[in-house]
Amino acid sequence: MSSSWSPRTRAVAFGRPTGPGAPLNQPPVLASTFREGGVDYARFGTDSTTSFEEAMGSLEGGEAIAFSSGMAAAAGILESLPVGAHVVTSSNIYHGVRSLLGDMGETGRLVDVPVDATDPDAIARTIDEAPTDSAPDGSSSPRALVWIETPSNPLLQILDVEAICSVAAERGVDVVVDSTFATPLRLAPLALGARYVMHSATKYIGGHSDLLMGVVIARDADAAEQVRRRRSLHGAFPGAMETFLALRGLRTLAVRLDQAESNAGLLAERLAAHPAVTRVAYPGLASDPGHELAARTMSGFGAMISFCLPSEDAADRALSRTSLVAMATSLGGVETTAERRNRWNEGTWTGLIRMSVGIEDAEDIWADLEQALAPEA
Ligand SMILES: Cc1ncc(COP(=O)(O)O)c(C=O)c1O
Repeated sequence: MSSSWSPRTRAVAFGRPTGPGAPLNQPPVLASTFREGGVDYARFGTDSTTSFEEAMGSLEGGEAIAFSSGMAAAAGILESLPVGAHVVTSSNIYHGVRSLLGDMGETGRLVDVPVDATDPDAIARTIDEAPTDSAPDGSSSPRALVWIETPSNPLLQILDVEAICSVAAERGVDVVVDSTFATPLRLAPLALGARYVMHSATKYIGGHSDLLMGVVIARDADAAEQVRRRRSLHGAFPGAMETFLALRGLRTLAVRLDQAESNAGLLAERLAAHPAVTRVAYPGLASDPGHELAARTMSGFGAMISFCLPSEDAADRALSRTSLVAMATSLGGVETTAERRNRWNEGTWTGLIRMSVGIEDAEDIWADLEQALAPEA
């Protein structure tokens, strides 16, 4: 195994059993308990999870910890914070993580402080308002964590991870990047200064809408141990079949993403030119506010598009008229799915449809969208 291999190669090559007679792929380890002498219980790790973690760790450049879902991965990080810590969040993050923070806020566990993270100075100011902890040597540090998501769900906001990590590091605060939309192949948050990167592996990593899983990759062993400990304590361990499928999905991530992204580029241009569409968010469009930053810091624009129709009714009507594009939540599968996002994110852009572009023929997807967007006869 060589860490000089490109990410595309590492996604295929890492996490395989080695040695004469070993299977090429790690089979699912369907066992909860093991004879004494090694790791003796599945909640502390099995060869299934180790293989997946080895591949993910090599891709992100850190130590990976697999979880039973993306939400469990998020909770694994947040639960490792001290009581009363301020979590400085970018204003648009996945609504489930926002709800988790709300829940933890109600019990006084953490304080969610949303900010406009397109302005790193706003993050700096918010960290400066967090409570501080004193060390025995008399120094003090903010009891805070920065949590950002880029591209964000569902507004596809692009953030300057390096600039945010730099203001946070100056204040001794860690940054977490939810990189689910970017995947390990389009953004390298740990190299840009984050201490943790997390993914809902349910999405692009699994890639076939057939499993729930999450993963955290930590920059250093101390950070990894904090999160691994929460996984064991909370029992948020992934099943063997899910882990097997997630690793199998990872093997084809590069080709799936290339195809979906190329489809998304074409569809975004056509949607932007369509008279029924009032707004398109896709970082690959030259007119998108995040375009220049995404072009500079990412190695591709991803395959998620958000676009708006004039009303919630118009969005519902269009989605009820598609046949290839499935009206469904979640994202990152080989199939194109779309949903009206105000179902979940009340108060977001009017008539917003979030579309996860799949790997079908782009012309077939476009034909389906075009007839769905046409005025009713
Ligand atoms: C950006 C993002 N983070 C985290 C999650 C949560 O992941 P899971 O559904 O695997 O728990 C999601 C799910 O949609 C997501 O979109």
